[in-house]
Amino acid sequence: MNTAARYWVIVPAAGSGTRFASEIPKQYTSLAGATVLQHALRPLFLHPKLHTVVIVLAPNDSYFAGLKIARHGTQLDCVDGGNSRAESVLNALKFLQGKAKQNDFVLVHDAARPCLRAAEIDDLLAACEDEAVGAILALPMNDTVKRVTDHKIVETVDRTMLWRAVTPQMFRFGVLFDAVTEALKVNYEITDEASAVERAGLSVNIVEADASNIKITRQQDVSIAESLLSLE
Ligand code: C5P
Repeated sequence: MNTAARYWVIVPAAGSGTRFASEIPKQYTSLAGATVLQHALRPLFLHPKLHTVVIVLAPNDSYFAGLKIARHGTQLDCVDGGNSRAESVLNALKFLQGKAKQNDFVLVHDAARPCLRAAEIDDLLAACEDEAVGAILALPMNDTVKRVTDHKIVETVDRTMLWRAVTPQMFRFGVLFDAVTEALKVNYEITDEASAVERAGLSVNIVEADASNIKITRQQDVSIAESLLSLE
């Protein structure tokens, strides 16, 4: 495998966050002295191996330009988002086409995850080094899992094989570009990058994430993230 592969980053930040119930999109909510997006970007800009970050913004975004972004020398580019997260990611992949080699890696990290730790990036990069496809961060399911209909339990699900997929997720550029393009062509519902790659019949590795890598979805997640960041 080509050891000179470069590492590109895509940060989808073009969502409106309907479950967040706020006028300000959740990625621009203040949390521990900065926005959620700034926290999500910090470990990516600080990592010495990641050389370009492409941020995907809503075409009508009026917040990003007002932010102080500490790039630490990392290249930063912005592209317009699409109607879904997957379309936003594809827009960024199209922007990278011709810049990234097929064998380069692209790491996708949600703007809504402000507590990513440097060690998680290190673990993901280490796991992917000799991989032809890629890997994702995920967390084993620790709680008992129920299948529910109309607020009534239908059954208890065997959780031994269940993991929760988080981000970053990292794949060879060519693999991810083809998988996302093909999946969107047939309207396959892509909930994360791995789902598109799985659809292509490829095997994706799992790297255990840190439990602090939460996604801001509802208002109460903001204070949980603040507590987690204060522990670092
Ligand atoms: O809404 P959800 O939390 O699943 O969004 C995950 C990430 O995808 C967020 O960072 C959001 O800004 C981004 N997104 C996007 N373009 C969309 C929808 C969501 O970049 N059309």
